[in-house]
Amino acid sequence: MTAVLTIENLHQIFEQNTVNENHVLKGINLTIESGEFVTIIGGNGAGKSTLLNSIAGTLPTTTGKICLHGTDITKKSVTKRSKDISRVFQDPRMGTAVRLTVEENLALAMLRGQKRGFRSGVQKKDRAFFKEQLASLGLGLENRLQTEIGLLSGGQRQAITLLMATLQRPELILLDEHTAALDPKTSLTVMELTEKLITQQKLTAFMVTHDMEDAIRYGNRLIMLHQGNIVVDVSGTEKETLTVPQLMDLFHKNSGTELKDDQLLLV
Ligand SMILES: Nc1ncnc2c1ncn2[C@@H]1O[C@H](COP(=O)(O)OP(=O)(O)OP(=O)(O)O)[C@@H](O)[C@H]1O
Ligand SMILES: [Mg+2]
Repeated sequence: MTAVLTIENLHQIFEQNTVNENHVLKGINLTIESGEFVTIIGGNGAGKSTLLNSIAGTLPTTTGKICLHGTDITKKSVTKRSKDISRVFQDPRMGTAVRLTVEENLALAMLRGQKRGFRSGVQKKDRAFFKEQLASLGLGLENRLQTEIGLLSGGQRQAITLLMATLQRPELILLDEHTAALDPKTSLTVMELTEKLITQQKLTAFMVTHDMEDAIRYGNRLIMLHQGNIVVDVSGTEKETLTVPQLMDLFHKNSGTELKDDQLLLV
């Protein structure tokens, strides 16, 4: 079976050949199999978002090759990739259209990756489907179909953004600190919802987090980035039994740098 995603020797260099040159990703090699739920951790500026942006196509790659199910997508447009790759960002305002209602946003999500424009008006059969999907979130949002998204809380919006990202099963879902802007209680609700959606649909996922405990608790593979290199990559039972001190040890051993406990947790 072909892997869902393969990344070969990916480099990202910003402002190349200038005094401001910034070599952010330094030859990333990765193979992600179907159903892998990968948590990605690393300090500020380690290259986590740059990696996700490269996969989604919002950043052209400096060099390297990215394949989805064996097909080279390195030069494919963001729109074309978005048919297979969905994203959820940190800012709850990024994933939804603020002036549209909940059901209109969901209708938009049904068109992900298509060239066809959005026609206002939601079909009756779609409405029933949306209602059922919203009810499954367990947040009472099934009664808010006609509410403008902008009137909902950050947590409610992130829950809907997650639903939109998975409404049509993506080949790959990219989550970039999608609970970081939420209070701890809401963050936990959204995180649990994330885990439920990913496991139920057997999705292949990348989830960036700053929280080492979350990176350990969720997912079945953990990758740590440091200055544009992968310094830790654990899965299976090693991941299941991993503790924060062990993770810090691994980081120290592989990167040659001491990781301060608060370096990741408090940002
Ligand atoms: N579009 C861009 N143009 C120029 N430099 C960029 C761009 N995107 C990111 N960078 C730089 O690349 C480096 C890595 O940024 P990136 O956003 O990938 O880090 P990160 O690991 O996601 O960090 P954080 O935890 O702060 O979100 C930073 O030095 C950043 O300034
Ligand atoms: Mg980032």
